[in-house]
Amino acid sequence: MTNGTATCHAETVANSRSGDSIITRVTRILESFDSTRVTQTPSGVARRTGLPVSSAHRLMNELADNGFLERDDQGGFRIGMRLWELTTRGSNALGLRQVAMPFMEEVQAGIREHTQLGVLEQDEVLFIERLSARQAGANITKIAGRLPLNASSSGLVLLAYAPPAYQERFLSSPLKRLSPETIVDPTELRKKLAEVRTRGYSFAPGYIESVSTGIAVPVSDGSGVIAALSVVMPRGNERESEVVARLKRAAAEIGQAASAVRFASH
Ligand code: PHB
Repeated sequence: MTNGTATCHAETVANSRSGDSIITRVTRILESFDSTRVTQTPSGVARRTGLPVSSAHRLMNELADNGFLERDDQGGFRIGMRLWELTTRGSNALGLRQVAMPFMEEVQAGIREHTQLGVLEQDEVLFIERLSARQAGANITKIAGRLPLNASSSGLVLLAYAPPAYQERFLSSPLKRLSPETIVDPTELRKKLAEVRTRGYSFAPGYIESVSTGIAVPVSDGSGVIAALSVVMPRGNERESEVVARLKRAAAEIGQAASAVRFASH
């Protein structure tokens, strides 16, 4: 009886009336922050997440007390540096970013356009680094931003080297169109992925925006493809063979360095 009451009380505290766990509610709060909503009030978060204002208020204050959110002077909250600190310290992807950086800088210095590193994350490419040059052309990629697998050069590489069952599942889901050139037909995409594997790189002219071309290669650390290294160039002025040669060389070096780090940490 006593136990039953205690369990029931714990559940009332852990779950909201809608049945969402505390983790789900906190996730909804944190995910409501993005590049267009850097600072939010509890009532704004409540409106966007569907949480009661009192819950949003209480949870956001608790998150701020623990450094996961930061308060400003006007009653607003933003993502706290402690979240960045914990993810950067513990993340494989960000370890890879550190290993890749000197090689990315070499590519960037040679090509003088955007050079970026992306990983496969929940059916999209998540970009963990982007270097640019003063005169570089258009590029919609953001660090910690995402692009569809079928639309970006990095996504095509990550998809082409993913397990066949993963590819088939992705190919049977609706494919996002970002420009008139984006491949949204599964048969055409399957052909493109085969071409990527044969050539060892992807060439994506206008798939994201008609004015630019993405070129990407896989980065393998001996255990499989762990990332895509890409360059975004003005369309029609791609210097394809030079770019591909530089990208392939850098990807091989990044893969070797990443595999050395992986063995050292085991
Ligand atoms: C690409 O990787 O294909 C890509 C990414 C961002 C752009 C254009 C192309 O703005």
